[in-house]
Amino acid sequence: MTTWDPQQYQRFQKERAQPFFDLVNRLPDGEVTTVADLGCGPGTLTTTLTERWPHATVWGVDNSPQMLAKTRALPAQPRLHFVEADIAGWFPPRRLDRIISNAALHWVPEHRAVLQHLVGLLTPRGVLAVQVPNNHAEAAHRILRESTQQEPWRSLLAGSGERFTIQTPRWYTHTLHSLGCTVQVWETIYYHLLSGENAVLEWMKGTALRPTLERLGQRLGQDGQTAFLDMYGQKLAQAYPAGPNGTLFPFRRLFFVAQRG
Ligand SMILES: C[S@@+](CC[C@H](N)C(=O)[O-])C[C@H]1O[C@@H](n2cnc3c(N)ncnc32)[C@H](O)[C@@H]1O
Repeated sequence: MTTWDPQQYQRFQKERAQPFFDLVNRLPDGEVTTVADLGCGPGTLTTTLTERWPHATVWGVDNSPQMLAKTRALPAQPRLHFVEADIAGWFPPRRLDRIISNAALHWVPEHRAVLQHLVGLLTPRGVLAVQVPNNHAEAAHRILRESTQQEPWRSLLAGSGERFTIQTPRWYTHTLHSLGCTVQVWETIYYHLLSGENAVLEWMKGTALRPTLERLGQRLGQDGQTAFLDMYGQKLAQAYPAGPNGTLFPFRRLFFVAQRG
């Protein structure tokens, strides 16, 4: 399980929040009394669900103690609960009218089994709404893969590289149909204009680099992490030169909204 650094993750809070709102805006209204946000992270976005559905009970679920610690600083609300659990194994006290998962499901393997589990938690006509990053063709990820394939990193990092699960839009469409849902699937490319020095490195440090940095920390301590970040950071600075208004970082994301029949 990856160790998260909520402060680093939240450095680009506005950019990371936009897909959540774009996803939630596509959800149908109707009678909603139970909602879950799976892989809720620091919980800031989860709280907005209590505004969208003021009469609903909302659960935020995450398996990272570091992320959940952040939720304790949020104003307490009687209908908002945070739970430490795995997305693939959590059972809510009641069936759910809406399940939302923003930028989390790609950390969970076996998507057919997970989707079957999640659809099974929905009430009739309940909706599952998911966003996952689908940016692996982008230079930042390609350079990361290439760098971790070169020595000495290859041997040090064996088995710890990018381990995300993302299927194709076609796969999600067919799989969710086969689970008895109607489905909308779409992709959006966000062109984030990031501020700060070597901004793409800072972005990657908050998410995709976590497993790599964790393994290097275990093997070599902070010096190993610093050496890797220097090498990778130089390559990123070349691939993403800063312009007068910031650094442009294209980011492709895959969305689906599935309604149980
Ligand atoms: C990139 S963050 C997204 C956080 C939040 N949804 C947001 O949009 O800001 C991914 C979150 O998924 C959580 N996560 C990853 N795998 C998980 C799993 N198997 N079960 C529960 N949470 C998981 C991580 O701990 C992390 O908080």
